[in-house]
Amino acid sequence: MDDTRDEELALRAGMLDRLATMRGRPLVDSVADAMLAVPRHVFVPNAPLSDAYGLGAVVTHRDRQGVATSSASAPGTVAGMLEQAEVCQGQRVLEIGAGTGYNAALLAHLVGQSGSVTTIEYDAEVADAARSHLDAYGANNVRVLTGDGTLGAAEDAPFDRILVTAGAWDVAGPWVEQLAPDGRLVLPLRLRGLTRVVAFERAVVGLRSVSVVEDGFIPMKGIGAIPEKNVPLGPGPDLTLRIDDGQPVNPSLLQALDGELALVWSDVVEPWAWTPEQDFWLATLPGFCRVFVNAEAVKAERIPRAKDPWGAWGVYSGASLAYLCSRQVGGTDQMPMLQVGACGFGPDGADLAQLLVGRVRAWQEQTAGGVEVMVEARPLSSMPLPAEDAALLVVDKLAHVFVVTASPAPVSVEV
Ligand SMILES: C[S@@+](CC[C@H](N)C(=O)[O-])C[C@H]1O[C@@H](n2cnc3c(N)ncnc32)[C@H](O)[C@@H]1O
Repeated sequence: MDDTRDEELALRAGMLDRLATMRGRPLVDSVADAMLAVPRHVFVPNAPLSDAYGLGAVVTHRDRQGVATSSASAPGTVAGMLEQAEVCQGQRVLEIGAGTGYNAALLAHLVGQSGSVTTIEYDAEVADAARSHLDAYGANNVRVLTGDGTLGAAEDAPFDRILVTAGAWDVAGPWVEQLAPDGRLVLPLRLRGLTRVVAFERAVVGLRSVSVVEDGFIPMKGIGAIPEKNVPLGPGPDLTLRIDDGQPVNPSLLQALDGELALVWSDVVEPWAWTPEQDFWLATLPGFCRVFVNAEAVKAERIPRAKDPWGAWGVYSGASLAYLCSRQVGGTDQMPMLQVGACGFGPDGADLAQLLVGRVRAWQEQTAGGVEVMVEARPLSSMPLPAEDAALLVVDKLAHVFVVTASPAPVSVEV
């Protein structure tokens, strides 16, 4: 029995070591203690131990098309969110998206016996599994509710912390109403197709971020579900545009790939890199979208390779579109040096490609020292602030208008 405990503890310690190496820094002590104490394999009983203590998400439920609908999020995602939340002993916490119950168990550990956790799961079968995992672990300060987490849990409010573990398109009114005056709301928020985990606290008007981190999540179900629109183009399809926030599409866009390709190269050469702040700067362009590029079409040289492996940022307008691409101009196979460019299709494709490249170049020139991004969520009924004029991005949703500012702010350069 002791041997088994030692082995399990070693598995958890190994997971934390690999996590620290991956992030380049150790976890915050309280979060590391919780992840050492809670046996993740109890919450994913059908997964091999190597997956339970691996660094990936463990998918537990899929829909008929094979798309993941529930999972134990990747340990790095879980740890990052808990660090942003800064959960303390004795607090009352609400989690939206119980999933396997693993995060609820970590929260239960962080709040201790003097605190409490309410977790809501939309899918009844998933909620039952979460209950049985939490029972097997022995958490006695967690309540699992089945229902739509967008409505919160008014009977247990107010909450010191609210953590949403499914991708949200807006900040739901009940979450703000049920948050304690000095509470913190942490949620993966989609803005123009960009998902960021934002930790919000109350401001004079609405909410203001205290941290913003890039990550991805299973989308919200129920009344808060606002899907993006997928527009397939060409045979295959060669490209699929994913468009957020109901931006309109002209039917002529479907013929965009019929014409000539225009390629524009920038003088930006860099190793492949995350560009999370630059992404907001590109998202200010009308018709901003994510472009998924078919690998077979790239191999057949019908279209250029996307700049980013999971899809490129792009823009569309009328019957034209452009997306960011890259080509290797040096370095090694392991660490290639990439020149950033854009390729355009349709009558205005060359202009759109030029616009994208101009934005990337302007960002590089103006933000060499790095920038900090801040997000405000203001109730739709509130008066616009003068600061909105200087904002990087303003997105109107159903309950809130989101204002993203960067410091220092880049100056718009039209090309
Ligand atoms: C990434 S998983 C959550 C991981 C979970 N926190 C864990 O520790 O295993 C997202 C979960 O959110 C649930 N979900 C999605 N929309 C929801 C909603 N409106 N209300 C409650 N749960 C929701 C999904 O069914 C899924 O189980």
